Amino acid sequence: MIIEPRMRGFICLTAHPTGCEQNVKNQINYVKSKGHIEGAKKVLVIGASTGFGLASRITSAFGSDAATIGVFFEKPPMEGKTASPGWYNSAAFENEAQKAGLYAKSINGDAFSNEIKQQTIDMIKADLGQVDLVIYSLASPARLHPTTGVLHRSALKPIGGTFTNKTVDFHTGNVSQISIEPAVQEDIDNTVVVMGGEDWSMWMDALKSAGVLANGATTVAYSYIGPEVTEAVYRKGTIGRAKDHLEATAFSITDSLKDIDGKAYVSVNKALVTQASSAIPVIPLYISLLYKIMKAEGIHEGCIEQMQRLYSERLYTGNGVPTDDKGRIRIDDWEMRADVQEKVASLWLEATTENLPQIGDLEGYRSDFHNLFGFGFEGVDYKADTNEMVNVSSIE
Ligand SMILES: NC(=O)c1ccc[n+]([C@@H]2O[C@H](COP(=O)([O-])OP(=O)(O)OC[C@H]3O[C@@H](n4cnc5c(N)ncnc54)[C@H](O)[C@@H]3O)[C@@H](O)[C@H]2O)c1
Repeated sequence: MIIEPRMRGFICLTAHPTGCEQNVKNQINYVKSKGHIEGAKKVLVIGASTGFGLASRITSAFGSDAATIGVFFEKPPMEGKTASPGWYNSAAFENEAQKAGLYAKSINGDAFSNEIKQQTIDMIKADLGQVDLVIYSLASPARLHPTTGVLHRSALKPIGGTFTNKTVDFHTGNVSQISIEPAVQEDIDNTVVVMGGEDWSMWMDALKSAGVLANGATTVAYSYIGPEVTEAVYRKGTIGRAKDHLEATAFSITDSLKDIDGKAYVSVNKALVTQASSAIPVIPLYISLLYKIMKAEGIHEGCIEQMQRLYSERLYTGNGVPTDDKGRIRIDDWEMRADVQEKVASLWLEATTENLPQIGDLEGYRSDFHNLFGFGFEGVDYKADTNEMVNVSSIE
């Protein structure tokens, strides 16, 4: 079929298999160009199919020749209906790993469930014995709690008062005011259940009890802080409470891994266009201003550059893991630079529908968004008849 982007709100309903393959190949080439990283050799990535998780999997495999197991929740294709992009990304990743002689298997299902945790443990036992790095990179709007059976939905809301600020519809470029009503306690609690650290902790407990964590194993989850302009809806909002919980969980996991000399970290990453972040109001406007400035300064990074730097300059330096005073790894350092933030804050005040194409990088935002779904890549013939029925080779 001829596959074209079909946008609905902040999602795209179609994905292009050849474009997704190109995206994965580009990321692999980037990691290879940066040279070998003396990192973990057996890696489990939870949330491995898109965004930071996919970039982590690629960095492990093609930076450190690691065997990887990837867990994700993606929609396979049906005749005439494309798969979700993470499916095509994972298919391409496995093909490239195979060509490079690297072990790579994937599990598609709900990572919050006991069943998927057990399936993963069985796969590690059968194929790898143990893992020495566990990346936790889930971003989900909902979680079916495995113990209570309750379905929790997260909310992206401010706490304590209505938040009114600018936002942009990045498809139309229209800058407008948005008001978001404050969360009630239930919204906060639900968001913490979905995006906080409980599931990460459950994964680590299950892996440890099954004896599939190697001595000295490391686990890393991802967080975000961001600037003042997004604070009310992000770091001081419901999602921020979940991130506080996730960050606190790193310490309790480290405690529980003491006897195997294991360690849990949270890495604070840069704001980037992913399926998860496009759904958060205000963030797309912030990102388009930020991109413009970071690109002009020559310090812009995408997911793969961030993960390559996380591995090579933070996790595997051979000389300890540098953290901030709260024990967090910081690779949002360039985003949070005072000069960068000052410029964003002043552009923020000026931004209008009319001037955003000049003062912001709306084009860059749109292009990254299209790229998430495999569209807009050089060298891909989007007019060609394309087979949507692509398999992920390790999944029956
Ligand atoms: N995008 C940003 O700007 C940004 C910045 C800093 C930190 N982070 C954090 O990084 C982490 C990953 O986010 P992302 O932006 O890469 O998101 P993403 O949407 O690109 O990736 C989410 C991944 O989780 C998987 N997933 C979702 N629900 C699942 C489920 N129930 N079971 C199994 N897999 C499931 C998806 O398949 C996908 O692999 C999140 O914790 C996010 O808060 C994101």
